This record gives sequence, structure tokens and C-alpha cells, in this order.
Amino acid sequence: MSERDPVSQDTAKGPPETDPRIEGEKHPVARMIGLGVLASVIGIAIVLMIDWFPTPASGIAEDIDTLYDVLLICSVPVFVLVMTIAIYSVVRFRAKPGDMGDGPPIHGNTKLEVIWVTIPFLMVTALAIYGWIVLDDIEAKAQDEMVVQVTGQQFAWTFDYPSEKVNSNELVLPVDQPVEFKIQTNDVLHSFWVPQFRLKSDAVPGLTTIIRLTPTREGSYEVVCAELCGLGHSTMRQNVRVVSPEEFDEWLRQRTEEGGEGAPAGESGEGESEGESVAEAGERAFTENGCGSCHTLSKAGASGTAGPDLNDISQADAAYIEESIVDPSAKIAQGFSDGIMPSDFGDKIPPDELDALVKYLLEAQR
Ligand code: CUA
Repeated sequence: MSERDPVSQDTAKGPPETDPRIEGEKHPVARMIGLGVLASVIGIAIVLMIDWFPTPASGIAEDIDTLYDVLLICSVPVFVLVMTIAIYSVVRFRAKPGDMGDGPPIHGNTKLEVIWVTIPFLMVTALAIYGWIVLDDIEAKAQDEMVVQVTGQQFAWTFDYPSEKVNSNELVLPVDQPVEFKIQTNDVLHSFWVPQFRLKSDAVPGLTTIIRLTPTREGSYEVVCAELCGLGHSTMRQNVRVVSPEEFDEWLRQRTEEGGEGAPAGESGEGESEGESVAEAGERAFTENGCGSCHTLSKAGASGTAGPDLNDISQADAAYIEESIVDPSAKIAQGFSDGIMPSDFGDKIPPDELDALVKYLLEAQR
């Protein structure tokens, strides 16, 4: 009691007598809102100046970018206004030194509360409707869609073109051709994402997820795995090429010829094999199959550590290396465990490519 006395005395005769809001200004709220509006305008200008996404390369990319801009324009003022009012209030209405008294009792302000419930409600509802309209456009089925089956696995993507009977480690698409991607995974969750196309979809074990898009811009892009899927996640990137329809037909023809008459899916041909040496073919097989995600191999610039170091294979002969690729469970290198390496490389890599890969790995031994 005695300790508090000086304080209460202080408040009784001290600063609280003069209300800071009356001192020198009539409308602190108007001033706060004025500051908030100014800061919002500056904030919006800044966020619209930032280049958030790479060059758009699909039909719906522009719609998605516009949607994102609208979201920014709506959320920046809310953030800026709230922060301005909060900071302004903290500075302007802070207690004077020694003032330990309570503030004036306030029982709310109905007008204000109606405003700050109604405006966000209308904003969020309008944005939800707008978002739904854009989503509906994105998911709309187009005519003459080409189907591409996307399969993710630790740590590489495979692309199957069922109608064209082609299988590839590179995603090649004809420009202006609507595509339906059917996305699956052989093991854990992955996420199929080509930033320039804007769309992204998880690959979920046991499910087939679908996205549709039309590439609208020729060029080279990258498919990125956007779901942490293991040690090689960051290396799970592969080439995407959007080409002219003629170039696409030529590519299909090459793939089909190399895989033999109507190569069944799974017979991965050699896209760029003309004049390629065994070493080059081996290196390409190493890269395309994502070996470097898990293995270290200096000459390929690979530094994965999930599997044995391939600079120094324990039993360096062709038969052992081939067996280790085709049937990884047969012999397990010391310090590693069974079941980490996918067991389907034998089906995915055609015999000649496998041969080149084995030779390429043998050559790396010291
Ligand atoms: Cu696959 Cu991350």
C-alpha cells in the first residue's frame, strides 16, 4: 500500500489531466488515416515495381500474375494502414515518464467496429469470387489436349507421351498446344513445378493429380521439384523445351525411330545421340537419370552423398557396376543400406545407354 501511494498521487495530479489528443490537434484519427493512405500508395508502388515471377510462358500465366497484383494491391493497404495506426499510436499516445495511471475507460466504438468488420468481409469475399473465376479458367478442359504423364521419383522426373508412345527425361512441348499433365509418384511426395508456366501440383503416392496448360512461348525452362523429398531434392531439376510443332514432330520421330517400331513407354531412346561418343552417352545417361543427386562423381560435377562415392567404386569391374545399377539390392556397399536406390533403372535405361554408363563409370576409377 505504502509503495503504491506515491504513484497514485502522481497520476492524480500529473500528466493525465491534459489529454494528449486535445493538445495541438483536433483530428488525430484523420491524421493517422492520412498517413496510412500515403504510406499505402508508396507501398503499392513498391510492390508493383518488383518483378515477382519469371517471364510468363503459358496461357494462364498472365491471369495468375494479374490476380497476384490485385492481391498485393488489396493487402498492402491493410498491412500498411494497421502498422501506421499502431506505430503512430505507440509514439503519439505513449505514457509520460512517471505516469502509472490507467487510461480512460473505453467501451468500444460501434461505428468503427462495423467499418472494420464490413470492409475486410467485402474485400475477402470479392477476392474469393475473383480467385474462383480464375481457377475455373485454369482448370477448364481444352480441345485436343495432348496428355503427358509425369512421374516423380527420388530424384528425377520421367515424362511419358502415351498417345505418341514416347518416353523421355526431358519435357518437350509444342508451342500453343494444350497439354494435360497427369502427375504421379513412384515413392514419396514431390511437386511438379515449371515457374514460367506458373502452375504447380503435388505428386501424391496413390493419386493422379492433373494440371492443364498451354505453353505459349518457345524456349528452355526448368521443371523444379517444389516439395522437400529427400537428400537429392534440390537437384531434382530437369530441362523443359517448348518448341515449334515441326520441331516437336521431328523430336517425336527421332525418339520413336531410336526406340524401334512404336517404342513402348519405358524404352528411353537417345534424343541427341548423333555423333555422340560412348563417354558422352555415358555422361548424358548419368545426368538424365539423376544419378548425381545421390552419388558423388567428380568428372560429372556431382556431389551427392545418399549413395556410395562413384569416384572410388569398391569393386571396379563392369559386371559389378551393371548389377549395382539394375539390381541395387544385390550387393550393398559398406556404410549404406538397402532400399534407398530405386530398383527400376534397369527398366528405364535402354541396354546401349546402360552399357555407356557402365563404361563411363569404369573410366572414372583411379
Ligand atoms: Cu522431389 Cu523434391
